[in-house]
Amino acid sequence: FNPAEVADRLLAWYAESGRDLPWRRTCDPYHVWLSEIMLQQTTVAAVIPYYQRFLASFPDIESLAAAPVEAVIELWAGLGYYRRARNLHAAAVRLVEDFGGVFPATMEEVLSLPGIGRSTAGAILSIAFEKSAPILDGNVRRILCRLFALRQPARSSAAEKRLWRWAEVLTPVERPGDYAQAIMDLGAGVCLPRQPACQACPLAGLCQALRLGLERELPVTSRR
Ligand code: ADE
Repeated sequence: FNPAEVADRLLAWYAESGRDLPWRRTCDPYHVWLSEIMLQQTTVAAVIPYYQRFLASFPDIESLAAAPVEAVIELWAGLGYYRRARNLHAAAVRLVEDFGGVFPATMEEVLSLPGIGRSTAGAILSIAFEKSAPILDGNVRRILCRLFALRQPARSSAAEKRLWRWAEVLTPVERPGDYAQAIMDLGAGVCLPRQPACQACPLAGLCQALRLGLERELPVTSRR
């Protein structure tokens, strides 16, 4: 099928059903970066108060870099995965030292920062800079496995290669930031791991897993 159709349907659905979240009212790369790090292993509901407190204490990259790392960890208390807080602080120091406190806008530079992998870099570049960069987090992986009825174990390296390729092909040149937010919302609210709400899904008519009755069997989660 036409990859543009996936983006068109997702963008139309997002305009109707997308969530109004604090980090969606900004395209400040610092705010987008912070939200993506907090959201890595944590739900939206848990992140919101932490995100707001964090920005109240550290309103910009400079104030974060200047703080002792202990103060950053303290604000993180309860969110878990504290390495994220340490990396965030270390990256802020690097941003001030090497980038004049300005968040960079190229994939290579963003990937060079501690704590930012390929998918988080894609999210930041698309949401904050409107660059057409793919994301492949847990939600997107599940959606693509179903959309293309991928029967390989989703975390195998062969599957990862195909999934990244599909993620690239589907990411639109226009409105990549809204597309990224839309596909993450679809994974969080509709294309659910155990009980996908296919009757509410804008991609149902394109979904190979649904067509084959495999929507609850995919993705295959066995170990690589
Ligand atoms: N999960 C990861 N990034 C997200 C975002 N920007 N919005 C909602 N959920 C997310």
